Parts: sequence; C-alpha cells; structure tokens
Amino acid sequence: MSVVYESQRYIDEYLLFHFGRPEQILKWPGGPREALDFPVRTVSHFSASFVDRSLDVGCAVGRSAFELSRHSREVVGIDFSQAFIESAKRISREKCLKVRCLEEGACYREDEVELPKGVNVDGVIFEVGDAMNLREDLGMFDRVHAANLVCRLPEPQRFLERLDRLVRPGGELVLATPCTWLEEFTKQENWPPGQTLKWLQNHLSSQFELKDVVDEPFLIRESSRKFQWTVSMVTRWKRNEPTVGGEVS
Ligand SMILES: C[S@@+](CC[C@H](N)C(=O)[O-])C[C@H]1O[C@@H](n2cnc3c(N)ncnc32)[C@H](O)[C@@H]1O
Repeated sequence: MSVVYESQRYIDEYLLFHFGRPEQILKWPGGPREALDFPVRTVSHFSASFVDRSLDVGCAVGRSAFELSRHSREVVGIDFSQAFIESAKRISREKCLKVRCLEEGACYREDEVELPKGVNVDGVIFEVGDAMNLREDLGMFDRVHAANLVCRLPEPQRFLERLDRLVRPGGELVLATPCTWLEEFTKQENWPPGQTLKWLQNHLSSQFELKDVVDEPFLIRESSRKFQWTVSMVTRWKRNEPTVGGEVS
C-alpha cells in the first residue's frame, strides 16, 4: 500500500484542502473557486434528513466526516494513513492546527486552519483501517461516503464487495472517483476493464439503485503557483429495501 499519505507534505496539503479558507488556498482572482470545498460538496449529495449512523471511508484528515456529523448521531471516519487519522483527531480536539504551506522551492508560509462551526465533534470517531479489510464488527450505516478512494486501492473490488454489509437496506452510498487509475496504487489487472461507471454498476447494481451521477471539481494546492484541478465523478446509490418475502435482493 502506498505510503505517500503518511508524509508531512500530504498532511499539510490535505489540511489546507479540507479546512482552508478560500483565500488561504487560492489567492489568484481568476482561479477556479467553484472547485473549493469539495469535501463539503460530496456530503451535500446525501438526502436531507437526520440519520443514526454514517461512515466515511478514506476520510483523510476528516472534513467530510465532520460534515456528516451535522446530520448524523454518530460518524465513523476510517483511513489507512495513521498520520491523517492523527491530524483528524488533533483538529477535533484542538479546533485549530498549524499548517506549513509551500510557497516555492524551500520557502514555506506558516498558517492555521480551523474546524468549521456547528459540527458535532463528540459524535465523530476516527480510526485507522483498511477499506479492503474493514473490521467485521463495524455494523451497518445509514450513510456511507467514500470520496476519491477506489482508484487509490490495490484491490478496489474488495471494498465494493463489502458495501452491501455496510449500508443498511434503504440507506445511501456516495461514491466519488476521479477515475485516475495509476499503477502506483492499483495494478492494471485490477483497473476497470472499461469505463469506471459501468464497472461500478456491474459490481453494485444487484444490491443498490443508482440515483445520480454528478461531476464535482476539486482543487489541491501544491504551492502558491501550482494546483491540481481534477473532476470527480460523484455517484449516489440507494441500497435496495427488503422485498415482500423479507429478502434484500
Ligand atoms: C485521494 S485521498 C481522498 C481523501 C478524501 N476522501 C478526500 O476526498 O479528500 C485517498 C485517501 O484514501 C486513503 N486510503 C488509501 N488506501 C486506503 C485503504 N486501503 N483503506 C483506507 N483508506 C485508504 C488515503 O490515506 C487517503 O486519505
């Protein structure tokens, strides 16, 4: 499994990506502002109601898990990176964290990011875990969110196969992916054989109904003059309800 997400560079980039204010991320007036707040926008695709339990797999430094807590009694955020989970727990406790923003070359600017107001930190639990081998006693969730995760897994189909035991019947799944398949993370034999959407449908449609497919851009600041602008395909699924005989199809 890749260790890139344990590095200080990625911790700082993701803290800024998840919690940075627009002016901290993008000081250029002509830049793509609509690509900011991605971890908030993906969560906004769930239907508007209060639920009991939500899960964010591949939660990184935690912004979407905190956003889920606005409409959920309990949220579990899971990521394989110990460093990301440690940062998520720290911002939950301390509300404000220092970040080192790369300006250029070896020049950095010290800055701070803050936990947004109105989130229910007491309802959010963060833990290290492997999306391909999640602990069996996690239970079922009303909402499962996994953003930009599947194309970073060595064997993504193992995560997809677990989803029908994670999302309760009638529950919702938001799966976002920029479809950026790379050998560095996933051997080509485990890539979708064709289009990612078709592959997701092949894996999920016996247990889930595809409700929406929406494109959401996101922006990750690498230095003051260089950014990653990428478009994620956000899919929303509803887990099938039991049929008359009580079976879930
Ligand atoms: C591209 S980042 C996306 C993070 C976050 N969901 C977002 O949208 O900003 C991929 C995340 O998946 C995590 N990850 C990679 N492999 C994983 C695995 N096997 N199990 C759980 N998380 C994993 C990484 O540590 C990283 O936080």
